Amino acid sequence: MELLKKMFHMFVLFCLCWWRLIGAFAVDMKSVVEGESVLLHSDVTEIREDDDMLWTFGKEDSLIAKINREEQIFSIFDVPDGRFSDRLKLDDTTGSLTITNITTQHAGLYQLDVFGAEHSSKVFSVSVNARLSVPVISSNSLNCSSSSSSSSSSSQQNCSLLCSVLNVGHVTLSWYKGNSLLSSISVSDLSISLSLPLEVEYQDKNSYSCVINNSFSKQTRHLNISQLCWTCYVSADVLDQSLPSLNMMLISAAAAAGSLLIVAAAVTYLICMKCKKTVQEEDRTDSALCKPKSQKVKSRKNAVYENVPKKR
Ligand SMILES: *[C@@H]1O[C@H](CO)[C@@H](O)[C@H](O)[C@H]1NC(C)=O
Ligand SMILES: *[C@@H]1O[C@H](CO)[C@@H](O)[C@H](O)[C@H]1NC(C)=O
Ligand SMILES: *[C@@H]1O[C@H](CO)[C@@H](O)[C@H](O)[C@H]1NC(C)=O
Ligand SMILES: *[C@@H]1O[C@H](CO)[C@@H](O)[C@H](O)[C@H]1NC(C)=O
Ligand SMILES: *[C@@H]1O[C@H](CO)[C@@H](O)[C@H](O)[C@H]1NC(C)=O
Repeated sequence: MELLKKMFHMFVLFCLCWWRLIGAFAVDMKSVVEGESVLLHSDVTEIREDDDMLWTFGKEDSLIAKINREEQIFSIFDVPDGRFSDRLKLDDTTGSLTITNITTQHAGLYQLDVFGAEHSSKVFSVSVNARLSVPVISSNSLNCSSSSSSSSSSSQQNCSLLCSVLNVGHVTLSWYKGNSLLSSISVSDLSISLSLPLEVEYQDKNSYSCVINNSFSKQTRHLNISQLCWTCYVSADVLDQSLPSLNMMLISAAAAAGSLLIVAAAVTYLICMKCKKTVQEEDRTDSALCKPKSQKVKSRKNAVYENVPKKR
């Protein structure tokens, strides 16, 4: 009988403890991304005149804020390691606490105790998710594939791009053209590196972006085609311009050569006409230009005359 009574007593105690535990752990869960702020709301619209409020953090129940409205005390404290420096803001009206620019160091349990006519408490469990880093877009700078289908037009120069992220888990990496999804890849493993390729024409005027996301955040990198594909741009431009300009150069060179030839021919013709005239008019002339010519002609004639009889 005594044992049964004792057991019953213990049972009641256990239940009471359990109930208190459950009550205390009606936890308000907060999930935030690094760098953001989180508001831990006191659920009080206005602090009562004779209420004391205490905010504590972590397993050690370190006091981080204290409010006594009657004595006009609104104090913020840091924990010994100083991790809250300037990050805590206290609302003088409601007693709510805001943690700004949160880091993973600030994850954990926060408890608010209100001591007044009666004692009440509220617990917040804050989890901090590491911020996703913005993906990086790189180009295979030597990899400007020109389309084989178009014969000579270099407007089909393509640029190969790669969007990458390092050490991620449970994320999706996607390429978007405007608002429409082009391609995506998902991983559920932890800490792997991901990359997703994209081919664009260097003259493409659409806006492309590479997005990494998980269930709680996302990061976007916009593609600047002219910046990343300038090598394709340059090689296409060289192709575009060098062919016509080479032709132009050839044509103008030919034209120049042609006109030179014409001028030279004209000059020679004029000189020779003049020579002929002078030779005909004055048989013996000292003109250096004309003398050899007439002599040559003469000697050839002589040679022909001399050879003919010998051959026959
Ligand atoms: C947020 O915290 C990080 C690291 O603690 C710090 O480098 C950064 O300057 C802070 N940003 C602001 C806006 O206070
Ligand atoms: C160019 O890209 C193709 C795939 O698009 C790849 O197979 C090739 O190795 C790349 N070439 C260079 C030089 O990066
Ligand atoms: C160039 O890119 C377009 C898409 O932007 C693609 O349809 C085409 O096949 C690509 N051409 C070559 C030669 O890779
Ligand atoms: C990324 O966002 C899309 C919708 O925007 C969502 O369907 C998808 O589940 C998210 N990815 C992850 C890994 O949560
Ligand atoms: C793209 O890059 C070029 C060259 O670096 C720059 O002049 C231009 O402003 C950039 N465009 C955008 C939209 O950022």
